[in-house]
Amino acid sequence: MHYNGQGLEHEAEVVNNQQLSPRYCRLTLRCSSVAEAAKPGQFVNLLSGQYLRRPLAVATVDDDLFTVGIEIKGEGTRELSRLAPGETVNILGPLGHGYTLEGAEQLLVVGGGTGIFPLQHVLQKARAAGVPTLACFGFRSRQESFLLDELEEQSDELVVTSDLGDLGISGTVLRGLEALWDSGRIRTGCRILCCGPKPMMRSVAAFAAGRELACEVSLEEHMACGVGLCLTCVCKTRNPETEAGYRYSRSCLEGPVFAATDVIWD
Ligand SMILES: Cc1cc2nc3c(=O)[nH]c(=O)nc-3n(C[C@H](O)[C@H](O)[C@H](O)COP(=O)(O)OP(=O)(O)OC[C@H]3O[C@@H](n4cnc5c(N)ncnc54)[C@H](O)[C@@H]3O)c2cc1C
Ligand code: FES
Repeated sequence: MHYNGQGLEHEAEVVNNQQLSPRYCRLTLRCSSVAEAAKPGQFVNLLSGQYLRRPLAVATVDDDLFTVGIEIKGEGTRELSRLAPGETVNILGPLGHGYTLEGAEQLLVVGGGTGIFPLQHVLQKARAAGVPTLACFGFRSRQESFLLDELEEQSDELVVTSDLGDLGISGTVLRGLEALWDSGRIRTGCRILCCGPKPMMRSVAAFAAGRELACEVSLEEHMACGVGLCLTCVCKTRNPETEAGYRYSRSCLEGPVFAATDVIWD
């Protein structure tokens, strides 16, 4: 399929490939079109040797460069993780509907695993706009953590949790959120922006609802085309105008970011 008519297809130069932890790496790519246009929460769809492209969130942006973080899961991400400086990779993007930063008095980003990457872009933009930020990031263990110094620098205040209890607060990000809430650091008018495994996002959405905080989540459904054509990525979202009370939304186009109250978690 050719996407040039939409101005979305680009050849990006690999500028750097940095190992972050045993299973994670980060590519720095040169592509001014994506770097200039990408909004936090948007993603690029990268060509590898596999049949389908692989979606990765835009993590940070600097001039004509942007980064993507990769967790090696299968063949597609393994191939992408082997790209070397000087090589090029064909990408589509920026794609999707990102997070809402406007109008929040404070932003609280909550992420786990690869969900941390798009939230870095939120932190970058929030700082540029002068919006105060809190960050709560969960890792499995100290050994599997990454970018701690950078995340600390990017957020006004960072809370880290680990499942194994050897880094920060022991437990899931929920424990971190409760600590932030109990100490009064989450202000009225704070908006939670979340990305990570579905069970985590579901419990963060419940945390937000219980405290009347606005919350947006990024649904990383399996994708194929990435541009709204194939319906691989549909998810159920609330829609009172339909008889059933819901509709199917394409997470690559109407999402991946949705208001948490619109998501039907089944
Ligand atoms: C909008 C969006 C943004 C994403 N951002 C990032 C990112 O910044 N960094 C990153 O490392 N990954 C990200 N992902 C997930 C990434 O796209 C998949 O892990 C990748 O496509 C898997 O390809 P593969 O060939 O390596 O593995 P495959 O062989 O295709 O699959 C290996 C395993 O990964 C699982 N998997 C495949 N796709 C997904 C998915 N979308 N979500 C969860 N599990 C999946 C499969 O079920 C299987 O168990 C994102 C996904 C979406 C939809
Ligand atoms: S991935 Fe094809 S419609 Fe969303």
